[in-house]
Amino acid sequence: MEFTNHCRCICFALILVLGAWSFQAAARSLQDDSMYERHEQWMSRYGRVYQDVNEQEMRYKIFKDNVAYIEASNNAANKPYKLGINQFADLTNEEFKAQRNKFKGHMCSTSITSFKYENVTAVPSTVDWRKKGAVTPIKDQGQCGCCWAFSAVAAMEGITKLSTGKLVSLSEQELVDCDTSGVDQGCEGGLMDNAFQFIQQNKGLTTETNYPYKGVDGTCNSKGESNAAATINGYEDVPANSENSLLKAVANQPVSVAIDAGGSDFQFYSSGVFTGTCGTQLDHGVTAVGYGSSDDGTKYWLVKNSWGTQWGEEGYIRMQRDVDANEGLCGIAMEASYPTA
Ligand SMILES: *[C@@H]1O[C@H](CO)[C@@H](O)[C@H](O)[C@H]1NC(C)=O
Repeated sequence: MEFTNHCRCICFALILVLGAWSFQAAARSLQDDSMYERHEQWMSRYGRVYQDVNEQEMRYKIFKDNVAYIEASNNAANKPYKLGINQFADLTNEEFKAQRNKFKGHMCSTSITSFKYENVTAVPSTVDWRKKGAVTPIKDQGQCGCCWAFSAVAAMEGITKLSTGKLVSLSEQELVDCDTSGVDQGCEGGLMDNAFQFIQQNKGLTTETNYPYKGVDGTCNSKGESNAAATINGYEDVPANSENSLLKAVANQPVSVAIDAGGSDFQFYSSGVFTGTCGTQLDHGVTAVGYGSSDDGTKYWLVKNSWGTQWGEEGYIRMQRDVDANEGLCGIAMEASYPTA
C-alpha cells in the first residue's frame, strides 16, 4: 500500500516535470493557439463570418491587439471602469469611429431657445427614468450612423410617457427614411434638434411596430409616416457648457446629449463609472436618462446608448459628472436638448 502510494508520487512528479518542460517549449504557439481559439469563440458568439483566410488573419491581428489593450487597461491600478471584449473587438479604433459615430456636430449654430428649467432649484440626488417606466429597452443601431435618431427618439419616448402616462417604443426608421430634406441624412448622420423639428412639422412620429428598424437608408413609407403615435410641441436647448443646467433638465425628463464617443476606452467600455480621457469632438448622439453617485462617491450621468445590450452595462454607460471642464466629460454638456410636449 505504502509502496504504491510512493510510486504514484514519483510518477506524478515526473509528469509535472515533463509537463512543465514541454509546456515551456511550446509556450509561444500555445499562447497563439489559445488566442486563435478565443477569436474563433468570439466569432461564433457574435456571428462574425469573414470572406476568406486573409481577412480572418487580418481581423485576428486586430482582435489580438485589442485583447492586449483591454487586458492591460483592466489590470491598471485605480481605473474605476472596466473594458470588455465586446462586438467591436475586431475593429480598429478608426474603423469603429467611421462606422458608428455620425452625429453632425456644429453643422448649424445652436439657436438660442428658452430653457424652461432655468428656475429649478431643488433636484433629487438621484434620478433614474428607467424606474419611472419612461425608458424603452435598449435598441441597436447596427452599422447605420443614425445615433441622432435613436437619441431623439429615446428623449421623445421619455416626454411622451411623462405627458400621457404611456410608454411607447417609437420609430427611428421613420426619421432615417423621411427626415431627409434638411441636415439629417439617415445612416450618414444627423442632429437631434433637426429630428425634433421634423417630428414637430410632421405632426408626430409613429411606433416602432408600425415602422420597424431596418438599419439602412430607405424610401419614406408615407403610410407608416402618417400614423402618428406621439407628438411634441417643439424642443429647447439646454444652455451650453453647464452641467448644472443639464442636471436641472435631466431631473425633469430624459435629455438628448451629444458626446465624443471616439476613444478606444469608449469602444470597449464594459462597466463602472467611465472617467476615461476623452475629447470634445462630438460624434455620437445618446440620451441622458438619469444621474447619481456610485458607492465610492463618484458622481455620474446615466446614459442610454444604442449599441445593443452587449456593450457597457446592459447597453448603458455611467459617465463621470461634475468634471473640471465646463464642457463635461466627452463634451456631454455642449449640445444637450429635449423635446417639449
Ligand atoms: C425664471 O424667473 C425669472 C425671474 O422671476 C422670470 O422672469 C422667468 O420667466 C422665469 N423663467 C421661467 C422659464 O419660468
